[in-house]
Amino acid sequence: MKVTVARSAGFCFGVKRAVNTCYEQAQEGRKPIYTFGPIIHNEQVVDDLKEKGVFPIKDEAELAKIREGTVIIRSHGVSEKIYKQIHAQGLTLVDATCPFVKKIHRIVKERTDDGWDVVIVGRAVHPEVEGICGWASSPVAVVETAGEARELVEERKKQSLESRKLCIVSQTTFQPDKFRNLVEILKELRYSSVDVLNTICNATEERQSEARDLAAASDAMLVIGGRNSSNTQKLYEICKRECPSTFFIQKLVDLDIRQLPPCGCLGITAGASTPNNLIEEVSKRCQN
Ligand code: F3S
Repeated sequence: MKVTVARSAGFCFGVKRAVNTCYEQAQEGRKPIYTFGPIIHNEQVVDDLKEKGVFPIKDEAELAKIREGTVIIRSHGVSEKIYKQIHAQGLTLVDATCPFVKKIHRIVKERTDDGWDVVIVGRAVHPEVEGICGWASSPVAVVETAGEARELVEERKKQSLESRKLCIVSQTTFQPDKFRNLVEILKELRYSSVDVLNTICNATEERQSEARDLAAASDAMLVIGGRNSSNTQKLYEICKRECPSTFFIQKLVDLDIRQLPPCGCLGITAGASTPNNLIEEVSKRCQN
């Protein structure tokens, strides 16, 4: 059987970089080490890191209690206030914010400093968006749905905007077509100029389109990831449409080799929180 693992299977570039940073810090032994929030939504990885001395902290209140050590910022990024708090407490800061998120921080800071209004298209309660908001020097609006965008348009129509400028950015994982729809609504605002900066990261789209192509060319397909992971579920649906013999597994023990065709092509892909070693183990088991 020919086994092909999708290149984009598993962690995206930003998450891979953040997880590697944790292991590197643990190896360097600069303990105690903390991550501001779990480094990834994968219990195995978080538990493994705990064993190596890297512990997640929940929020600012927990951070305030830490007296020494290193704090790693995860790929989602955090607000400027958290950077200041870490420095003020004399802790070592290791920044693993994804560069694509960092770019949005820079945009929001520069634009609000220059007097622009900023609208972030995304989920207000998502840690990435909370972090982005925390780089603005004036209040920013966040819209996630068409209803919220229309509400904002109605509210701002009462203000005189002719001399003001608007910059629209997006959460990195927002759906591109939804972003375009919301931008169309927001363009009804009568600003002197509107800059639309599409800051969506294409890692998810790439993973999905590669999975689609691989499934179409395979006799069977394995999708590895958490049952509750929506991006893995989506990958499974995409693959199942192209290849009826598509199977969803969470761990190596879920793999039932008897379900797979005895020969032909097997494709493997994995959700964004699936660690590489699990992908490799599954691939090896199938090859053997
Ligand atoms: Fe990942 Fe960074 Fe994109 S964390 S999804 S590569 S924005």
